[in-house]
Amino acid sequence: MPDSVRKSLTHEEILHWLRETDPNRLAHLWREANTVRQESVGGDVHLRGLVEFSNHCVRLCAYCGLRAANGGVRRYRMSADEILACARAAVRLGYGTVVLQSGEDPRTTADWMADVVRRIKRETDLAVTLSLGERSEDELAQWREAGADRYLLRFETSNRVLFDRIHPPRPGQHSDRLALLGVLRRLGYEVGSGVMIGIPGQTFDDLARDIELFARLDLDMIGVGPYLAHPGTPLAEQATQPVVETDDQVPADELTTYKVIALTRLICPKANIPATTALATINTATGRELGLERGANVIMPNLTPPEYRVDYEIYPNKACLSETADTCGRCVARRIESIGRTIGTGRGDSPNYDPSRREPA
Ligand code: 5AD
Ligand code: FES
Repeated sequence: MPDSVRKSLTHEEILHWLRETDPNRLAHLWREANTVRQESVGGDVHLRGLVEFSNHCVRLCAYCGLRAANGGVRRYRMSADEILACARAAVRLGYGTVVLQSGEDPRTTADWMADVVRRIKRETDLAVTLSLGERSEDELAQWREAGADRYLLRFETSNRVLFDRIHPPRPGQHSDRLALLGVLRRLGYEVGSGVMIGIPGQTFDDLARDIELFARLDLDMIGVGPYLAHPGTPLAEQATQPVVETDDQVPADELTTYKVIALTRLICPKANIPATTALATINTATGRELGLERGANVIMPNLTPPEYRVDYEIYPNKACLSETADTCGRCVARRIESIGRTIGTGRGDSPNYDPSRREPA
């Protein structure tokens, strides 16, 4: 077990930390991650308002409650005007970014989405982040052209066999998220990715490789959260049949999530790292605060109107389900102030992002 935490960690050291259980040793990791966070990205917590604008999805991800085959979901699609109203709420609440997220919804056409982005950019100074799943290069280029600044696409796991097991491809198409992350970067987006922690079949070795891949991909944003079983999905139903040795299986728990946040901060010092909603869901009381104190520097308060929010059920009992944009805004501000941190002003662009490193679009 390493005695001190260094910024360049070997695969073995990452593995040791992921398996560490001694609270005194872990306290070193938290302290070091917090110090590196302060030195690299400062004390500001950037707020990104999340708009979950459509829960229609054509895909069949084995873990996600929005998968096409889940008949128990009331599907909705917000109008462009409704999304614009959320963007105005973001401005009113002092957020610098709006994140537009949806399932893989073919009715979100490239032209419609580009128009929404253009309207937001025309009316506000917000940074616009898109999170719309695996879309074509042409579409991604068109949205970038329209003014979209950032794109989030988690690779979910670096283990290709596990990835394929939980992500059935669209008929006749191969899914290659790493290639898409390369496309996004070439197009000049700030690129965000991440993984779920504790996917059934995910080993400690897999998770250590995930963290190492974050660094190789040179990501601007890295979101991680625990896997949460959704009863309407095949992965939740198979969970009683373990696919790896019990001792190798990563637990989908709070402590492992903090370890991944802290190790990610050490390995990618300048990345924007959110304390995610999934983390808030497993510890509603202090999950986000502890995430922020163990390496994170971003929170994504929900802006989705309450009548739609309840139906964006990627996993059950999601934090803030019965809140409004305003109550989430106040709650998040209180939480940030309670731990002596400041709310970031402006867009909160990634200090890691350097346009000169990217090929021109
Ligand atoms: N548990 C935890 N996270 C999930 N996501 C989707 N389904 C679940 C689940 N059941 C995460 C995925 C996706 C992000 C938008 O939400 O990592 O990329
Ligand atoms: Fe939504 Fe606390 S952040 S209620």
